[in-house]
Amino acid sequence: MKLVKLLANLGYGSRKEVQRLIRSGAVTDAGGNVLGENDLPPHAQIRFRGEELDPPFPLIIMLNKPDGYTCSSEDPGSTIYDLLPERYAHRNPGLNPIGRLDKDTTGFLLMTDDGKLLHQIIHPKSNCLKVYQATLDRPLAGHEGELFASGTLVLNSESRPLLPAALEVLGEKEARITLHEGRYHQVRRMFAAAGNHVLSLKRISIGGLQMPADLGEGEWRPLTREELARVFP
Ligand code: URA
Repeated sequence: MKLVKLLANLGYGSRKEVQRLIRSGAVTDAGGNVLGENDLPPHAQIRFRGEELDPPFPLIIMLNKPDGYTCSSEDPGSTIYDLLPERYAHRNPGLNPIGRLDKDTTGFLLMTDDGKLLHQIIHPKSNCLKVYQATLDRPLAGHEGELFASGTLVLNSESRPLLPAALEVLGEKEARITLHEGRYHQVRRMFAAAGNHVLSLKRISIGGLQMPADLGEGEWRPLTREELARVFP
Protein backbone atom coordinates (compact mmCIF):
# COMPACT_ATOMS: atom_id res chain seq x y z
CA MET A 1 0.00 0.00 0.00
CA LYS A 2 1.19 3.53 -0.77
CA LEU A 3 1.68 6.09 2.00
CA VAL A 4 -1.10 8.32 0.61
CA LYS A 5 -3.59 5.46 0.58
CA LEU A 6 -2.58 4.28 4.05
CA LEU A 7 -3.12 7.72 5.61
CA ALA A 8 -6.34 8.35 3.70
CA ASN A 9 -7.69 4.95 4.82
CA LEU A 10 -6.84 5.86 8.41
CA GLY A 11 -8.96 9.02 8.05
CA TYR A 12 -6.17 11.62 8.07
CA GLY A 13 -7.77 13.30 5.05
CA SER A 14 -8.83 12.73 1.46
CA ARG A 15 -6.11 11.49 -0.87
CA LYS A 16 -5.57 15.06 -2.09
CA GLU A 17 -5.38 16.42 1.45
CA VAL A 18 -2.98 13.68 2.48
CA GLN A 19 -0.79 14.37 -0.58
CA ARG A 20 -0.62 18.01 0.49
CA LEU A 21 0.19 17.02 4.08
CA ILE A 22 3.01 14.75 2.91
CA ARG A 23 4.41 17.50 0.70
CA SER A 24 4.27 19.95 3.62
CA GLY A 25 6.51 17.62 5.68
CA ALA A 26 3.85 16.56 8.23
CA VAL A 27 4.71 12.88 7.81
CA THR A 28 8.07 11.65 9.08
CA ASP A 29 9.74 8.51 10.31
CA ALA A 30 10.51 7.91 13.99
CA GLY A 31 13.84 9.74 13.55
CA GLY A 32 12.12 12.89 12.25
CA ASN A 33 13.13 12.35 8.59
CA VAL A 34 10.45 13.72 6.28
CA LEU A 35 8.73 11.00 4.23
CA GLY A 36 7.72 11.33 0.58
CA GLU A 37 4.82 9.69 -1.23
CA ASN A 38 6.98 6.79 -2.32
CA ASP A 39 8.36 5.99 1.13
CA LEU A 40 6.64 3.36 3.24
CA PRO A 41 8.50 2.33 6.39
CA PRO A 42 6.80 -0.11 8.81
CA HIS A 43 3.58 1.29 10.34
CA ALA A 44 5.12 1.66 13.81
CA GLN A 45 7.89 3.84 12.36
CA ILE A 46 5.61 6.43 10.75
CA ARG A 47 4.77 9.68 12.54
CA PHE A 48 2.09 12.23 11.69
CA ARG A 49 3.03 15.64 13.09
CA GLY A 50 5.35 13.79 15.45
CA GLU A 51 2.65 11.41 16.75
CA GLU A 52 2.44 7.66 16.17
CA LEU A 53 -0.15 6.66 13.58
CA ASP A 54 -3.51 5.20 14.64
CA PRO A 55 -3.52 1.39 14.65
CA PRO A 56 -3.86 -0.21 11.20
CA PHE A 57 -6.64 -2.56 10.05
CA PRO A 58 -7.87 -4.75 11.74
CA LEU A 59 -8.75 -2.53 14.69
CA ILE A 60 -11.00 -3.51 17.57
CA ILE A 61 -11.76 -1.10 20.39
CA MET A 62 -13.85 -1.16 23.55
CA LEU A 63 -15.96 1.79 24.63
CA ASN A 64 -17.93 2.52 27.79
CA LYS A 65 -20.97 4.10 26.16
CA PRO A 66 -22.64 6.88 28.14
CA ASP A 67 -26.38 7.57 28.13
CA GLY A 68 -27.61 9.81 25.30
CA TYR A 69 -25.23 8.72 22.52
CA THR A 70 -26.51 6.88 19.44
CA CYS A 71 -24.56 4.13 17.72
CA SER A 72 -25.13 5.63 14.26
CA SER A 73 -22.70 7.84 12.37
CA GLU A 74 -25.65 9.56 10.67
CA ASP A 75 -27.49 10.87 13.75
CA PRO A 76 -27.61 14.67 14.06
CA GLY A 77 -27.28 14.42 17.88
CA SER A 78 -24.42 13.01 19.94
CA THR A 79 -22.99 9.76 18.57
CA ILE A 80 -20.38 7.30 19.77
CA TYR A 81 -18.05 8.67 17.08
CA ASP A 82 -17.96 11.97 19.01
CA LEU A 83 -16.12 10.07 21.76
CA LEU A 84 -13.29 9.04 19.39
CA PRO A 85 -10.71 11.11 17.49
CA GLU A 86 -12.54 12.75 14.56
CA ARG A 87 -10.59 10.80 11.93
CA TYR A 88 -11.88 7.46 13.29
CA ALA A 89 -15.23 8.24 11.64
CA HIS A 90 -13.44 8.47 8.28
CA ARG A 91 -11.51 5.19 8.34
CA ASN A 92 -11.79 2.87 5.36
CA PRO A 93 -12.93 0.17 5.97
CA GLY A 94 -15.27 1.89 8.42
CA LEU A 95 -15.26 1.37 12.17
CA ASN A 96 -18.65 -0.06 13.18
CA PRO A 97 -20.27 -1.02 16.48
CA ILE A 98 -20.45 -4.77 17.09
CA GLY A 99 -24.13 -4.96 18.03
CA ARG A 100 -25.67 -1.55 18.59
CA LEU A 101 -26.85 -0.23 21.93
CA ASP A 102 -29.93 2.02 22.18
CA LYS A 103 -29.36 5.73 22.77
CA ASP A 104 -30.33 5.31 26.43
CA THR A 105 -28.45 2.03 27.00
CA THR A 106 -25.03 2.42 28.61
CA GLY A 107 -21.98 0.22 28.99
CA PHE A 108 -19.81 -2.17 27.06
CA LEU A 109 -19.56 -1.64 23.33
CA LEU A 110 -17.02 -3.11 20.93
CA MET A 111 -16.25 -1.51 17.58
CA THR A 112 -14.24 -2.87 14.67
CA ASP A 113 -13.32 -2.20 11.05
CA ASP A 114 -13.15 -5.97 10.43
CA GLY A 115 -16.49 -7.09 8.98
CA LYS A 116 -15.67 -10.78 9.34
CA LEU A 117 -14.87 -10.42 13.03
CA LEU A 118 -18.02 -8.34 13.55
CA HIS A 119 -20.22 -11.08 12.11
CA GLN A 120 -18.41 -13.77 14.07
CA ILE A 121 -19.17 -11.96 17.33
CA ILE A 122 -22.81 -11.07 16.67
CA HIS A 123 -23.79 -14.42 15.17
CA PRO A 124 -25.79 -16.45 17.73
CA LYS A 125 -23.75 -19.55 16.79
CA SER A 126 -20.55 -17.90 18.05
CA ASN A 127 -21.85 -18.29 21.63
CA CYS A 128 -20.57 -14.80 22.49
CA LEU A 129 -23.23 -14.18 25.11
CA LYS A 130 -24.18 -10.58 25.87
CA VAL A 131 -24.97 -9.79 29.50
CA TYR A 132 -27.11 -6.81 30.52
CA GLN A 133 -28.13 -5.37 33.85
CA ALA A 134 -31.62 -3.84 33.96
CA THR A 135 -33.39 -1.65 36.49
CA LEU A 136 -37.14 -2.08 36.23
CA ASP A 137 -40.12 0.14 36.89
CA ARG A 138 -42.03 -2.51 38.83
CA PRO A 139 -40.95 -5.45 41.01
CA LEU A 140 -40.27 -8.70 39.17
CA ALA A 141 -43.43 -10.84 39.17
CA GLY A 142 -41.64 -14.20 39.30
CA HIS A 143 -42.61 -15.60 35.90
CA GLU A 144 -40.00 -13.73 33.85
CA GLY A 145 -37.21 -16.32 34.15
CA GLU A 146 -39.37 -19.10 32.78
CA LEU A 147 -40.81 -16.89 30.02
CA PHE A 148 -37.36 -15.73 28.82
CA ALA A 149 -35.87 -19.24 29.00
CA SER A 150 -38.79 -20.84 27.13
CA GLY A 151 -37.54 -20.35 23.59
CA THR A 152 -41.15 -19.66 22.60
CA LEU A 153 -41.42 -15.94 23.41
CA VAL A 154 -42.35 -14.02 20.26
CA LEU A 155 -41.90 -10.25 20.44
CA ASN A 156 -44.50 -7.84 19.08
CA SER A 157 -44.41 -7.55 15.27
CA GLU A 158 -42.03 -10.54 14.95
CA SER A 159 -42.80 -14.11 13.95
CA ARG A 160 -39.63 -15.97 14.99
CA PRO A 161 -39.41 -16.85 18.71
CA LEU A 162 -36.46 -15.57 20.71
CA LEU A 163 -33.67 -17.96 21.57
CA PRO A 164 -33.79 -18.95 25.25
CA ALA A 165 -32.34 -16.21 27.47
CA ALA A 166 -31.30 -16.41 31.12
CA LEU A 167 -32.54 -14.15 33.90
CA GLU A 168 -30.78 -13.71 37.22
CA VAL A 169 -32.67 -11.81 39.91
CA LEU A 170 -30.42 -9.26 41.59
CA GLY A 171 -33.10 -7.44 43.59
CA GLU A 172 -36.80 -6.62 43.62
CA LYS A 173 -36.42 -4.43 40.52
CA GLU A 174 -32.94 -5.44 39.35
CA ALA A 175 -32.06 -8.27 37.00
CA ARG A 176 -29.22 -9.58 34.89
CA ILE A 177 -30.17 -10.93 31.46
CA THR A 178 -27.97 -13.09 29.23
CA LEU A 179 -28.74 -13.10 25.51
CA HIS A 180 -27.47 -15.20 22.59
CA GLU A 181 -28.70 -12.70 20.02
CA GLY A 182 -29.22 -8.97 19.59
CA ARG A 183 -32.59 -8.03 18.21
CA TYR A 184 -33.86 -4.47 18.10
CA HIS A 185 -34.58 -3.16 21.67
CA GLN A 186 -34.54 -6.80 22.72
CA VAL A 187 -34.25 -6.52 26.51
CA ARG A 188 -36.76 -3.66 26.71
CA ARG A 189 -39.24 -5.57 24.55
CA MET A 190 -38.76 -8.77 26.56
CA PHE A 191 -39.68 -6.98 29.78
CA ALA A 192 -42.57 -5.22 28.03
CA ALA A 193 -43.83 -8.70 27.02
CA ALA A 194 -43.60 -9.67 30.71
CA GLY A 195 -45.69 -6.62 31.73
CA ASN A 196 -42.81 -4.51 33.03
CA HIS A 197 -40.77 -1.55 31.84
CA VAL A 198 -36.98 -1.08 31.76
CA LEU A 199 -35.90 2.17 33.43
CA SER A 200 -32.20 1.77 32.76
CA LEU A 201 -30.09 -0.77 30.93
CA LYS A 202 -26.35 -1.41 30.91
CA ARG A 203 -24.33 -4.01 29.01
CA ILE A 204 -21.65 -5.46 31.25
CA SER A 205 -20.01 -8.22 29.21
CA ILE A 206 -19.61 -9.77 25.77
CA GLY A 207 -18.55 -13.41 25.53
CA GLY A 208 -16.09 -14.06 28.34
CA LEU A 209 -14.95 -10.43 28.47
CA GLN A 210 -16.30 -8.09 31.14
CA MET A 211 -16.10 -4.34 30.74
CA PRO A 212 -12.91 -3.40 32.67
CA ALA A 213 -13.70 -1.54 35.90
CA ASP A 214 -11.15 1.17 35.05
CA LEU A 215 -12.79 2.06 31.72
CA GLY A 216 -14.63 5.25 32.71
CA GLU A 217 -17.84 6.47 31.12
CA GLY A 218 -17.12 7.76 27.62
CA GLU A 219 -13.62 6.23 27.63
CA TRP A 220 -12.29 3.83 25.00
CA ARG A 221 -9.16 1.89 24.12
CA PRO A 222 -8.05 -0.87 21.75
CA LEU A 223 -8.51 -4.45 22.95
CA THR A 224 -5.41 -6.43 23.78
CA ARG A 225 -4.96 -9.81 22.09
CA GLU A 226 -5.81 -11.58 25.35
CA GLU A 227 -9.03 -9.56 25.70
CA LEU A 228 -10.08 -10.40 22.14
CA ALA A 229 -9.45 -14.10 22.83
CA ARG A 230 -11.71 -13.85 25.91
CA VAL A 231 -14.61 -12.54 23.77
CA PHE A 232 -14.76 -16.04 22.23
CA PRO A 233 -15.49 -18.51 25.02
N1 URA B 1 -31.62 -4.62 24.45
C1 URA B 1 -32.22 -3.43 24.45
O1 URA B 1 -33.42 -3.32 24.66
N2 URA B 1 -31.47 -2.34 24.18
C2 URA B 1 -30.15 -2.39 23.98
O2 URA B 1 -29.52 -1.35 23.77
C3 URA B 1 -29.53 -3.65 23.98
C4 URA B 1 -30.28 -4.76 24.22
